[in-house]
Amino acid sequence: MGLEPQQQVDLTAANSLALPCRAAQLARCSTLSELRSARHYAVQQRLPLTLLGGATNTLCPPAIDGLVVKIEAPAGDSFSVVEEHSSTVVIEVAAGVSWAQLVTDTVATGLAGLENLALIPGTVGAAPVQNIGAYGVELAERLVELSFYHWQRDSVTTMSAADCQFGYRDSIFKQSLAGRGAIVALRLRLWREPAAHYRSDYPPLAAALAGSELSAAAIAAAVTAIRQSKLPDPAQLPNAGSFFKNPLLPSSQFNALLAAYPVLPHYPAGRPGWHKLPAAWLIEQCGLKGWQRGALATHHRQPLVIVNRGGASLAELLAFADDIRAAVAAKFAVDLEIEPQPCRAAALGGIGDAV
Ligand code: EPU
Repeated sequence: MGLEPQQQVDLTAANSLALPCRAAQLARCSTLSELRSARHYAVQQRLPLTLLGGATNTLCPPAIDGLVVKIEAPAGDSFSVVEEHSSTVVIEVAAGVSWAQLVTDTVATGLAGLENLALIPGTVGAAPVQNIGAYGVELAERLVELSFYHWQRDSVTTMSAADCQFGYRDSIFKQSLAGRGAIVALRLRLWREPAAHYRSDYPPLAAALAGSELSAAAIAAAVTAIRQSKLPDPAQLPNAGSFFKNPLLPSSQFNALLAAYPVLPHYPAGRPGWHKLPAAWLIEQCGLKGWQRGALATHHRQPLVIVNRGGASLAELLAFADDIRAAVAAKFAVDLEIEPQPCRAAALGGIGDAV
């Protein structure tokens, strides 16, 4: 069956930063065969192809030429159990499923493991790209393997968690595989409740849970309450969550900064000799918490989040972010890296593509 994309589709309301954006053509795909048709169409028509999930961590330009492929949830349950063991199960989830819905559904089914990642916007397929993480857990710790549809080879490969080269807010899908394919399904290992592996040591979470009996549902409820108390809901106040990564500093640079600012908050970076700093603190110390220019502002409760109060363009957003980066660099000599990803055309294997 041939693909019949929609023409000239306004994606302003479909990206969480509400950046004005129009797609020349749009195909909604929820299965591998639909993705294959979209690829075939783009190759036949010699069109660039751009992949979007929930567009909750994406910097959308005013116009996207060619074909935009939006990954959506297939009909039916959000996940299926594909392996059962005495205390664990492996579930399979399609890429287009809402991550937050998956967490709600697994917790409601008595499965633990994803509760710390409650209420994170976006799709399941996008989760490995930035290795979503919150309140002490990263996706990398739960992923068994994923299915990756390679545009150029037109074939699906299975990749283990090690193959994905996960790091803090990083993976191979942001590096050598950027634009090379689409994640079509994840397999995650979860525990049957009651589980022995609850993670509740992140300080605000530990405080919220003090005295209560641990369960996936209790942790999910506490995480949800904390997120709602400090992170703006993109549906009400457009944003892409943390706009910058928390910077990782080598010991020499970190020690010099700590000598100058003894109150500098810091965390282990997960690799020896490195330290992680909260970008929110650096931004706040520059006097930029709640800073506004035009339609843009850093959020008044969490300055790491940039909000679009209506009508800001991508160019204005990047200029605003650049001014924040410049202020932090001038005061602390620390570079902030932008976390949301630009839209980029896929490498379909046509003339001019790098291999
Ligand atoms: N802080 C300030 N001022 C503020 C807010 C925070 O100085 O207004 C400092 C404090 O020192 C605080 C520290 O920043 O202790 C950490 O703040 P928070 O717990 O809010 O976490 P974060 O480091 O700002 C990261 C993730 C979030 C995730 C939380 C919880 C990144 C880039 N962001 O934020 O992820 O929800 O930890 O684990 O790593 C996202 O990626 O979109 C996201 C929201």
